Amino acid sequence: MSVLDAKVERLSTDPATGYTAFRLGSFTFRRDEYFAHVSWPKGSHIIEVDRFLRAMVRDIGWGFFYGWIFFDDIFGTTNHYGTVDIFAGSYDKGYREAGIDHLETFTAEAVSEAFEAISRDWISEGYDPLNAPLETGSPIGPKGPERTDPLLRAFIAADRMLGLPGDKPVRSDETGHPINRAFADLEYDAPEIECAPGFEGQLHAINLFEHIARSDVTWNPSISAVTRANICCVTSEEHMLPVIHGNDRNEWFIQLTDEIHWSIADKETGAPRGRVVMRPGDVCAMPADIRHQGFAPKRAMLMVMENGTPGLEQRYASGELKPYPVDFR
Ligand SMILES: [Fe+2]
Repeated sequence: MSVLDAKVERLSTDPATGYTAFRLGSFTFRRDEYFAHVSWPKGSHIIEVDRFLRAMVRDIGWGFFYGWIFFDDIFGTTNHYGTVDIFAGSYDKGYREAGIDHLETFTAEAVSEAFEAISRDWISEGYDPLNAPLETGSPIGPKGPERTDPLLRAFIAADRMLGLPGDKPVRSDETGHPINRAFADLEYDAPEIECAPGFEGQLHAINLFEHIARSDVTWNPSISAVTRANICCVTSEEHMLPVIHGNDRNEWFIQLTDEIHWSIADKETGAPRGRVVMRPGDVCAMPADIRHQGFAPKRAMLMVMENGTPGLEQRYASGELKPYPVDFR
């Protein structure tokens, strides 16, 4: 079902809580003090509001990412790189068998606008869903004053190597990025830079661990290096990944510090496929046919390598490429 000309509509505001309800296509969204409620013609679903908002702001900020973003087992989005599906129960065996699953395709712009409108209205001052739960307030309760600062941390593009004269400063206490409490025990030696004569001012290096340790967000790329279709993201992770990611291609994880536990399930049905516990130095490839969610008991540093080659998702979906990257024989 495609409703490509749909735009988000504001519905009524609940006088008891102050929150506004919204409609996009035939999905409606409303919240109360504890929960987000999503309805569609044949069904409805309830999600704890903190989880819903933490998933929603990342989904917008990541530009719907690769493949599937499950807010929980039932509700989420699929990125078709220009258009986006919103689905409910479409990848759940029980919902499909009962015939109450629903999926609509919108322009990416319409979904982005809708999610931004909902997030703006449903997030009050003192709560930042991009922060770790221990480092922010709670979204439960009636509406307070709306936040006026950006909900998302926009990408800031560097023109040269970070820290070189004329480019962005590296994160420091002075730029308002203190070392996170969880990484206070690490050593942050600065790299020694020895330039060949004639290259002064053109060569630089930073301590990447120090850069990640100063990140104030979790499960959100802190720095990305892009070389053609190769995308390398480093992030700091604490508590749980607020979405379940369904891959449409392989994705490599390199654990830099601490520990992350991954639950891995079949992408189509949600049936459990495995658990992976990653410790520093561990490397794994998440296959193209799974959904996965990470849990970090303590703030951890993770490096993620993505292949952004256009059309790759169709080569995996058609079976031309195996869902995993290496055959060990
Ligand atoms: Fe993933």
